[in-house]
Amino acid sequence: MHIDLSDQTVLVTGASRGIGAAIARRLGGAGARVAVHYGRGREAAEALAHSLGNGAQAFGADLADPETCAALWSEIEGRFGRIDALVNNAGIAVESALDKPMGEWLGDWETTMAVNLTATAILSRLAIAHFMTRDGGRIVNIASRAAFRGDQPDYLAYAASKAGVVALTRSIARGFGKAGVKAFILAPGFTRTEMAQAFIDQYGEDYAVSDLALSRLTEPDDIAPMAAFLLSGLADHATGSTIDLNAGSYVR
Ligand SMILES: NC(=O)c1ccc[n+]([C@@H]2O[C@H](COP(=O)([O-])OP(=O)(O)OC[C@H]3O[C@@H](n4cnc5c(N)ncnc54)[C@H](OP(=O)(O)O)[C@@H]3O)[C@@H](O)[C@H]2O)c1
Repeated sequence: MHIDLSDQTVLVTGASRGIGAAIARRLGGAGARVAVHYGRGREAAEALAHSLGNGAQAFGADLADPETCAALWSEIEGRFGRIDALVNNAGIAVESALDKPMGEWLGDWETTMAVNLTATAILSRLAIAHFMTRDGGRIVNIASRAAFRGDQPDYLAYAASKAGVVALTRSIARGFGKAGVKAFILAPGFTRTEMAQAFIDQYGEDYAVSDLALSRLTEPDDIAPMAAFLLSGLADHATGSTIDLNAGSYVR
């Protein structure tokens, strides 16, 4: 099966490192023109965009700020003219113990929701409006195993935000399918990135692997091919679906 994305311009958020960078590389390798979004990692994003070719460019925006999210979309639309697909990948996992003072715990909750859920919703909304002026488009939203299995007590906001991403994406798929919008959920399990590194440092890799059915940790490159497949058009009738990529650690 050959996946050719050479007629597509795709925004990948949080593409400066980790899973987002792997997705951007995979899409670029399939010929897509990638808008490589970053928050703080400008140098990495620019280097990646340069290495991808196909007219890829890096775009910075702090997704914790709703206005900046909207400005990001406008900037890319202004630069490229059209956007065919959106991968909402950027995310944060903020550790927040329940016994923190209420104000601090709520601050962590709101920051998590802003980046993981509100930014995903704003960019999806803008993408839908853009796609509806054309012949449709595709959205891949990165959720998490935590949306289904739950997470540790210090990560309640993270799990809740990802469950929100799941419901948002399913609703987009059901609500805008006739307008040509297809929306999919990728739900990674524990994946070797900076987000996961603190856990590996604290508990060791063997402990992380003991949770899996497979014998090695999931790498970002184990996630990325599925994003390319979903954007290819070969899986459009799976719109609304969630693809679990968790090495068999949580089989639903
Ligand atoms: N790793 C896992 O085990 C795992 C498991 C399940 C789901 N996921 C999900 O997969 C996605 C990618 O995670 P990852 O592991 O690759 O994480 P990561 O290595 O920590 O990378 C996070 C990315 O998100 C961007 N980002 C974070 N906060 C931002 C903000 N306020 N504004 C703009 N960009 C921001 C970062 O950009 P800069 O570095 O440029 O600031 C970075 O590119 C996330 O949605 C995460 O929840 C990860």
